[in-house]
Amino acid sequence: TAYHEPYRPQAHFSPKKWWMNDPNGMVYYKGTYHLFFQHYPKATIWGPMHWGHATSTDLVHWTEQPIALYPDKLGYIFSGSAVVDKDNTSGLGANGKAPMVAIFTSHDPKGEKAGSSKFQNQSIAYSLDEGRTWTKYKGNPVIKNPGIKDFRDPKVFWYDEGKKWVMSLATKNRITFYSSANLKDWTKQSEFGQTLGAHGGVWECPDLFPLKLNGKEYWVLLVSINPGGPNQGSATQYFVGHFDGKTFTPVSTNTKWIDFGPDDYAGVTWGNTGKRKIFLGWMSNWRYANQTPTKVWRNAMTIPRELSLQLTAGDIYLRSEPVEEVEKIVSKTIKVDPELLAKNNNIFSVIKQTPTQYVLKFDTKAANNFSVVLSNAGGEQLIVGYDAKSMRYYIDRTKAGQTKFDKGFAQIAYAPRLTTTLETDMQLVVDASSVEVFADKGHSVLTSQFFPKKPYTKLSIVNHGLEIEHLEIQPLKSIW
Ligand code: FRU
Repeated sequence: TAYHEPYRPQAHFSPKKWWMNDPNGMVYYKGTYHLFFQHYPKATIWGPMHWGHATSTDLVHWTEQPIALYPDKLGYIFSGSAVVDKDNTSGLGANGKAPMVAIFTSHDPKGEKAGSSKFQNQSIAYSLDEGRTWTKYKGNPVIKNPGIKDFRDPKVFWYDEGKKWVMSLATKNRITFYSSANLKDWTKQSEFGQTLGAHGGVWECPDLFPLKLNGKEYWVLLVSINPGGPNQGSATQYFVGHFDGKTFTPVSTNTKWIDFGPDDYAGVTWGNTGKRKIFLGWMSNWRYANQTPTKVWRNAMTIPRELSLQLTAGDIYLRSEPVEEVEKIVSKTIKVDPELLAKNNNIFSVIKQTPTQYVLKFDTKAANNFSVVLSNAGGEQLIVGYDAKSMRYYIDRTKAGQTKFDKGFAQIAYAPRLTTTLETDMQLVVDASSVEVFADKGHSVLTSQFFPKKPYTKLSIVNHGLEIEHLEIQPLKSIW
């Protein structure tokens, strides 16, 4: 039945049918979280892009809505953002209704084929019925391509200090900032990053937003890059710095990753959520996104994650943790007896269903390895662990199920441990075909897909003398 096919995530959003990539147009309005997404509604592979649409009142349960934006004469509808223009600066509102405005890239496939370098331009559309139906603006495109092949993924927010809209745009190997008073006329402000951060691939899907650390405001700039991620292929790096309405200045030049795993890409945050900053990524990787073994749909989103800043070893890092709303689908909490935990290689056959959340606390002072092994009757296993010697967390999916669809899929993905405290904690969100690892309160994050022949039913902790102080197992209810 729909939403219960093999590999179908039960705690994550995926489209009922067909292809999905990047989250788009994420905005909170009148009690509803809007999630638009890159969608091809005719096949389970990438194709002419539309904006699909889903809504939620709690970030956990989603209802897919009719397609919001269809390709037009300017091209496919590539990634972008949406804002609520509450003061009607655009003049696109009517009858006292504030418009919701989507800002996206028009990708002209004909221009691309013809060898033009100007086939990606920025366009807008507006909705007067809270995102249900959309009208494209007559004056599109609103930003014309100056001759940069990769010129896309506008993310717009209202910069209150300067009373203007600010757009971050991915422009090949850097981010270009624009500003506007009305969402229609845009002026270039500055460029960032040509000589900073990771450059193993093209820059895509930026996001710029403020976050406080001990009462002081910083700005965070997310930049997705493909390829060139820390575990190959697509990944999202970030910079922490200052923004004065025109220019972004980083406070450090370390390359940082919001998620080290292979399957969290093109993620950005919801607009209009006040002090909360909630991130959502696409849970795949361009290396194999078109080949994964699902049938009626392809690809899902990550669990929504709350972002915060933390000072660690003299630098400022982003922490990501599952939003507290996930608690709503926790069906029960099983606390594992600490005496059992003290013994090595305990097998707990307690997993009766996916999805499941695991919460672990342990102590690294013995500098020992440990791993959490999920296995099934088919002899497959997924391993999440900590390697004390290299001080890295990892996900080993080499024997976790089907891997033949891509020659690099059978991999072990690593994330460095960034914190230096002895106490460590780890939260795992395991679904039918994905695991998300949030270690050290979300300092080190890894997300990975896997495709087992049978669901995992057994959990074992392989504990090489390390002290596990606490283990909670929380079966999650399906959101469908
Ligand atoms: C990122 C991306 C974006 C683009 C979209 C096209 O995954 O390549 O840069 O707008 O996907 O679907």
